[in-house]
Amino acid sequence: MCGIVGYIGKRQAYPVLIKGLHRLEYRGYDSAGVALINPAGNLNVYKSQGKVSDLEDTAQHQDLTGSIGIAHTRWATHGEPNFRNAHPHLSQFGRLAIVHNGIIENYAPLREMLRQNGRTFKSDTDTEVVVQLIEYLQEKQQLSFQQSVQQTLQMLQGSYAIAVLDKNQPDTIVAARKGSPLVVGVGDDELFLGSDASPIVEYTNRVIYLDDEDMVVLHRGTGANTSEVSIDLMTVSGDRKQPRIEQVSLDVSQLEKGGYDHFMLKEICEQPQSLRSCLQSARRTLAGEEAGGIFTLLESSQRVLITACGTSWHAGIVAKYALEQMVRVPVDVDYASEFRYRNPVITRGDTVIAISQSGETADTLAAIEMAKNQGAKVLSICNVIGSSIPRASDKVIYTMVGPEIGVASTKAFTAQVSVLTMLALLWGKRKGTLSGARCEDLLKEMDTLPEKIQQVLNQQPAIRRMAETLSFASSCLYIGRSYNYPVALEGALKLKEISYIHAEGYPAAEMKHGPIALISQEMPVVTIATASDIYDKLVSNVQEIRARQGRVMAVVTEGDTEVVRMADCYVEVPRVSECLSPILNIVPLQLLSYYVACLKGCNVDQPRNLAKSVTVE
Ligand code: AGP
Repeated sequence: MCGIVGYIGKRQAYPVLIKGLHRLEYRGYDSAGVALINPAGNLNVYKSQGKVSDLEDTAQHQDLTGSIGIAHTRWATHGEPNFRNAHPHLSQFGRLAIVHNGIIENYAPLREMLRQNGRTFKSDTDTEVVVQLIEYLQEKQQLSFQQSVQQTLQMLQGSYAIAVLDKNQPDTIVAARKGSPLVVGVGDDELFLGSDASPIVEYTNRVIYLDDEDMVVLHRGTGANTSEVSIDLMTVSGDRKQPRIEQVSLDVSQLEKGGYDHFMLKEICEQPQSLRSCLQSARRTLAGEEAGGIFTLLESSQRVLITACGTSWHAGIVAKYALEQMVRVPVDVDYASEFRYRNPVITRGDTVIAISQSGETADTLAAIEMAKNQGAKVLSICNVIGSSIPRASDKVIYTMVGPEIGVASTKAFTAQVSVLTMLALLWGKRKGTLSGARCEDLLKEMDTLPEKIQQVLNQQPAIRRMAETLSFASSCLYIGRSYNYPVALEGALKLKEISYIHAEGYPAAEMKHGPIALISQEMPVVTIATASDIYDKLVSNVQEIRARQGRVMAVVTEGDTEVVRMADCYVEVPRVSECLSPILNIVPLQLLSYYVACLKGCNVDQPRNLAKSVTVE
């Protein structure tokens, strides 16, 4: 999931492009590159393996002039993360440069056809095939820049967001999307491109979200009219479209670390505030005009199918517990990547709830497209306004926690679980499967969660000490029961993602069916043991581990007396109702993984091999 930036206007493009790449680096950091057309009409391309800062080092003594350019930060799919495969890629005769986010599935036969027509390739990427094909069609069929891009796109299978420069057209950028996100920024006599709005909001909050199979030609006047810019929007098949300019309410300060060492720590510590804005916004949505449509959609459901990936999938499992308990509706939870290919039985009575922080995860997007084609209705829970998944859904509830930049998702998880729990409470009350009084009590208790999270954040020193022992482990188990089984899964994922320690989450009672064989002095077991209807059962599970000299690190409710006696170390969290406890209990686990990663000197915000939003299969 690469990041794309583009600029055409009156400013020097390079500084705009580099700043934009820094904003998008959470999407991929294997290599970076930029292409500029300078005032003399030369097409200059600079690229490097590694981070955007490596590119800046590479390019610093080069000719960086020009007020038109495109840039890229890469997450490798086709071809290793190295200089040769870094974008932008040039066409055979160096006339065209391209940056691309996505996967071209039919690149091999196209490459073979081009080879047989005398083209040679410098990289292993699918992307180079696209720019070679554009140039080939230009020459072979005497096509214009725009026509050759259009015709090329009609021959591609797979997903793409692309931006292309032609040095013979030094006042034009052609861009297009299918499956991968692309946004146009509309400034005063200047235009921007971004994989999302973050590279653009510093300059303008007026944007155009491109739809699938949209192509856009960004053009700047020549001579006396250089200050005039224009946008031609059309479909890849050539039908003209009227651009729809929207306002984004994103502030640049939200894209900064705000004095924290890492975005992840900032986002963990923001949760009291992010959860407040999430709860307020969810209450407005679920009590306001939108509510009717959302509950009508849900109340027509015979069954709820939740689909998502990664952390969002874990939020989906918590939602299953809440919805089945409070609404008494059957709920299935599926990894989107499995759901879309296992030919699931979907009927008109099914409602799909799609959960996604970024709103761009390819598997989740494809899963809801498939479900819609089979007659299901789709409600999405999403954090990025204007992203693809909400735009493909019948209804959406935004989590409103602001941009999440750390690759390891944190504040989005507590918000997703909160929105889904509030949905279950209100739906249960409407359906009569949950008493009005119980619903109101729990809604009131939800409003105390931001303050309770702050109390947990105040225990960072204790959690850091816990991390000191865990940082030496090569493997770790997380256990929990009921609502906290998915919290164990999420805690394990956080540790894996950023500290590279192998970790697995398990339902505590499942231990004796196998994993308990792993228990020894070397295997720490992080136990979520807060107050619940089955606390006693959990205590027995901890005793089973202690009986085998396992090391126990526990999250317990303030005033716990039993588990704390068996734990090597523990952190206390304020008492809350069990169905709300996942929102609180995950916070010490987020901090634990954060401190372990810091102690191990890992790159917390940009963990190896990962990217923030997975826009390819
Ligand atoms: C979580 O920390 C990861 N970044 C990853 O598992 C993520 O949750 C997954 O890719 C789903 O992303 P989404 O919520 O943006 O769809």
